[in-house]
Amino acid sequence: MYIITGSIGLIGSSATEYFLKKKKKIIGIDNDLRSYFFGKASSNNWKKKILKQNKDYLHLSIDIRNKSQVFKIFKKYSNQIKTIIHTAAQPSHDWAAKEPFIDYHVNSTGTLNLLEAFRIYCPKATFIFTSTNKVYGDKPNFLPLEEKTLRYEIKKKHHFYKKGINELMSIDQTKHSLFGASKTSADVFVQEYGSYFNLKTVCFRGGCLTGENHSGARLHGFLSFLVKSIINKKKYFIYGYKGKQVRDNIHSLDVVRAFDEFIKKPLRGGKVYNLGGGRENSCSILEAINLIEKISGIKSNFKILSKNRIGDHKWWISDNSKFQKDFPNWKIQINLETSIKKMIAFEFNLLK
Ligand SMILES: NC(=O)c1ccc[n+]([C@@H]2O[C@H](COP(=O)([O-])OP(=O)(O)OC[C@H]3O[C@@H](n4cnc5c(N)ncnc54)[C@H](O)[C@@H]3O)[C@@H](O)[C@H]2O)c1
Repeated sequence: MYIITGSIGLIGSSATEYFLKKKKKIIGIDNDLRSYFFGKASSNNWKKKILKQNKDYLHLSIDIRNKSQVFKIFKKYSNQIKTIIHTAAQPSHDWAAKEPFIDYHVNSTGTLNLLEAFRIYCPKATFIFTSTNKVYGDKPNFLPLEEKTLRYEIKKKHHFYKKGINELMSIDQTKHSLFGASKTSADVFVQEYGSYFNLKTVCFRGGCLTGENHSGARLHGFLSFLVKSIINKKKYFIYGYKGKQVRDNIHSLDVVRAFDEFIKKPLRGGKVYNLGGGRENSCSILEAINLIEKISGIKSNFKILSKNRIGDHKWWISDNSKFQKDFPNWKIQINLETSIKKMIAFEFNLLK
C-alpha cells in the first residue's frame, strides 16, 4: 500500500495514476487546499472524481497539519504501508509571504507529522519527499551569467555548473523566500529522518515540474499557466528579467518514474537529488512563448513588467548527474516540446 499526499495535485495525481496502473493500493490524502491558496479555478477536485473511480484508490480529504488524523491513518494501515510519497504543499513563493504561518505549517509541520507517523508506525517503508530548488535560495543568481538575445546563460564555457546546478551548491545564507524557508525546513527534516534514524528517505529538489495534469495558476505552475493563457487568449504578465529567466522543465511522469526507481532500490541515510528537465529541456519565458505560439498557431498577448519576483531565479538548470549515477535506468522520456504539445492538446479538448 502507498500513501500519497497531495494526491490530486500535479505530481500526486501522476504518481497515483502511475502506481494504480502497477496494481498498488493507494490512500490519497488531499483536502484541495490549493483552491484556498489560488482560487477555485486552480482547484484539483476534478481529478478526485476520476481517481475515485478506481477501486484501489481511497481518498481522504484530511489536512496534513492535523497530527492526530495523520497518526490515525498510519496506525490503522501500519502493517500495509510500504511507501509514502509526500507531495502536498503550499507551493508558491509569493503566496507564502501573504500567510507565513499557513505556509510554514503546511510545508514544515505537515512534513514533520508525516515523518513521525512513518517512523512510529511503518519505519521499514520508503519516504519520498518533493523538495524544491528554492532550498538554494537566490544563490544561482550570483553565478556568472550573461544576457543573450532570448535568455540568460552561464558565462564561462567550462564553468563548474555548465551542465546545470548540482547538490553541492550551499543552501545557507541566501534569500529563500518564505516558501523556500519552509521547504528547506522540511527538506532538512526529511534528510534527518534518513541520517539520524537511518530510515529510507529521499528529497527530490525539483526544478519546474509540469504536465497537462497541472491546474496552473498565476502564482504557481508557470508553463501550465502560460499555455492556458495563450490558448484562451488571455494576457500573460512576465515579472522582470525581460522574460529571459531560464527554467528547466520536467514532465510529471518523468518525476514519478524517478520515484519508482528509488522505490525499487531505496537507499538509507537521507538522500538528496536535484531533479529537473536538464539543459535539453530548459527555456526562458520568451523561448517558451515562441514554442507555444509555433505549436498552437496562436499569437500570444504578454506584457513584461520591470519588477521581478523577490529572489526569483534568473537561471536554473538542474544537473541530474547524481541521480542518474545512482539510478542508471532513469532518463528523461518526455521532452519539453512533447510536454507542451500534451498541454496544448489538453486545453483544446477543454474548449471543445
Ligand atoms: N510544480 C512545480 O514546478 C514544483 C517545483 C518544485 C517543487 N515542487 C514541489 O512538488 C510538490 C508537488 O507540487 P505540485 O505542482 O504537484 O503542487 P499542486 O498544488 O498541484 O499539488 C499539491 C496538492 O497538495 C494539496 N495540499 C496542500 N496543502 C494540503 C494540506 N495541508 N493537506 C492536504 N493536502 C494539501 C493541494 O490541495 C494540492 O492538490 C510540492 O511539494 C511542491 O513544492 C513543485
